[in-house]
Amino acid sequence: MAAFNTFKLSLVLSLLSNIGLLPETSKNTVGIFPPTCNRIECPSFDLIQVGNGYEIRRYNSTVWMSTSPIQDISLVDATRTGFLQLFNYIQGKNKYEQQVEMTAPVLTEVLPSDGPFCESSFTVSFYVPKVNQANPPPAEGLHVQRWKSTYVAVRQFSGFVTDYNVAEEAAALQASLEGTAWSAAIEKTLKANATSVYTVAQYNSPFEFNDRVNEIWMLFDMEDEFLLV
Ligand SMILES: *[C@@H]1O[C@H](CO)[C@@H](O)[C@H](O)[C@H]1NC(C)=O
Ligand SMILES: *[C@@H]1O[C@H](CO)[C@@H](O)[C@H](O)[C@H]1NC(C)=O
Repeated sequence: MAAFNTFKLSLVLSLLSNIGLLPETSKNTVGIFPPTCNRIECPSFDLIQVGNGYEIRRYNSTVWMSTSPIQDISLVDATRTGFLQLFNYIQGKNKYEQQVEMTAPVLTEVLPSDGPFCESSFTVSFYVPKVNQANPPPAEGLHVQRWKSTYVAVRQFSGFVTDYNVAEEAAALQASLEGTAWSAAIEKTLKANATSVYTVAQYNSPFEFNDRVNEIWMLFDMEDEFLLV
């Protein structure tokens, strides 16, 4: 089923690009440091490569607090639902009644489904601050994800995330990766174990209007040895 979803996504993406709906691949799509990360903790990463319209990062070992998959037709609505749960969590609605510092980004992992109502599955996650990573307070309905070393292909865009622009930006990222070794690694990871086809990373609260930074992430596994070639 995962393979089928991947296929379906590529089909949709290539249709979009064929009819010229994709945003242009400009040089300005990566390399902006989210201003939010000057104020609150963000996960650090190694920059592996800057390509045309994308960058490749490696996150060594990050810890995320995640909702259960949320079925919805709208990424924006699902993210709001999930974020509310996570916001309550950091305010102390957890087993230790402990407050946790706000961090960025908030992730929404997207897994399109084949259901009759065109619903997709969205998992919303909060980056657990380093100080809480050894023992994040448990909470009902939330689970911890501990990522091993993970590679991410990234495209940045600004403004507000909408259900329409995420699809466009994801398609543009996929198009910019076409024919690269990264693209092959992403395909391979999706075939092996797709828990998401792409992920939306948001760095701003809904109340900030300026300097908004969002990213599309495509996650993949890669043996470090390949990078030495
Ligand atoms: C990630 O791990 C590698 C290898 O251990 C190390 O060289 C690098 O500095 C680490 N990067 C970050 C951002 O922690
Ligand atoms: C697939 O992903 C799940 C959830 O991230 C993980 O628990 C599982 O070990 C993965 N399986 C493989 C074969 O990588």
